[in-house]
Amino acid sequence: MPFYHKLGKIPPKRHTQFRKEDGSLYSEQLFGTIGFDGMSTNSYHEQRPTQVKAIRKQYSVAPKIAKANHIQSYRLRGFQVKPEADYLQSRKTILTNSDCSIILAAPQQSTKDYFYKNSDADELLFIHKGTGKLRTHLGNLDFKYGDYLVIPRGVIYKIDFDTEDNRLFIVESRRPIYTPKRYRNWFGQLLEHSPYCERDLRRPYELETNNESGDFLMKVKKQGDIFEMIYASHPFDVVGYDGYNYPYAFSIHDFEPITGRIHQPPPVHQTFETDAFVVCSFVPRLYDYHPDSIPAPYNHSNIDSDEVLYYVDGDFMSRNDIEVGHISLHPAGIPHGPHPGAAERSIGKTKTEELAVMVDTFKPLQLTEEAMKIADEDYFKSWLPHEA
Ligand SMILES: [Fe+2]
Repeated sequence: MPFYHKLGKIPPKRHTQFRKEDGSLYSEQLFGTIGFDGMSTNSYHEQRPTQVKAIRKQYSVAPKIAKANHIQSYRLRGFQVKPEADYLQSRKTILTNSDCSIILAAPQQSTKDYFYKNSDADELLFIHKGTGKLRTHLGNLDFKYGDYLVIPRGVIYKIDFDTEDNRLFIVESRRPIYTPKRYRNWFGQLLEHSPYCERDLRRPYELETNNESGDFLMKVKKQGDIFEMIYASHPFDVVGYDGYNYPYAFSIHDFEPITGRIHQPPPVHQTFETDAFVVCSFVPRLYDYHPDSIPAPYNHSNIDSDEVLYYVDGDFMSRNDIEVGHISLHPAGIPHGPHPGAAERSIGKTKTEELAVMVDTFKPLQLTEEAMKIADEDYFKSWLPHEA
């Protein structure tokens, strides 16, 4: 997605005859976004990718909203989400708006008997625990702790886990997920001031090409429903493709922090952008080096965006009583800041080992029933002196 990639075999000229050894034609598919204006990939299939045999089931997986309108800060204990065997069933939407959904999942098993496709949204999977392989119709990516996996809408995938102990933080985005525009030049190349470059972005490296006919179950998410579709040809039957629209991986450990003499604002941590939210990575880094600096952040009013912080590892200097796997939600409209004592505690510190993922949404987030199961409803009082 961030730059041109080619995998497998393709003909020298697009939209021309590309034949198998037996003389028959490979089936070409343009896999594009935003009409014909967005990024696209041109893929070549063993069989026509259009062969729907049956649509067996349709059911809603839309989140149930518990608090639509609110102005309260919350702490959510993410690791209290219960592990479940099945990947799709394990995904619990906790926060949502019309642009995106934030999901926690602790899947125990690989997807075995179905393929999955999200036709509504790009998916960003952050791997908090677990290793394995993301298998897609456009090739495979290995993953481990700290990886972001960006899966553009429409990519057909399976996910294989090496063990049962997996924790994922997922953002579904109805707006395309891009690398920030200000990091790129007018050709799209990542610039010198970008905290990562093309070498840090891992592209699919192996194709699974199956020329099989039969009954292949694909679970397609569309408009909040899952449709169980039966295809007559194996969904992983691509012999080659090229273009810009494909899944890729980026490790949070490869994000190079930008530091300064005084406290740097959150945009220096930005990793991905959409026109509806941003994703930032807070990584181990040296603290501010002005002799009078206060490394803890100042109080701030995110007047027009909700701030979601997912705590991954390390000690969170600005917060009291925050553990790995917790989420803080600081809603738009009211200020928040360091907990009592945190600013003083930070003075003189030279570095932090904190690791966290932040999602700032431009529209308010609604809390779901799944969120309320893991919510600390008293968190909003945690800035009072007696809570210090
Ligand atoms: Fe904040």
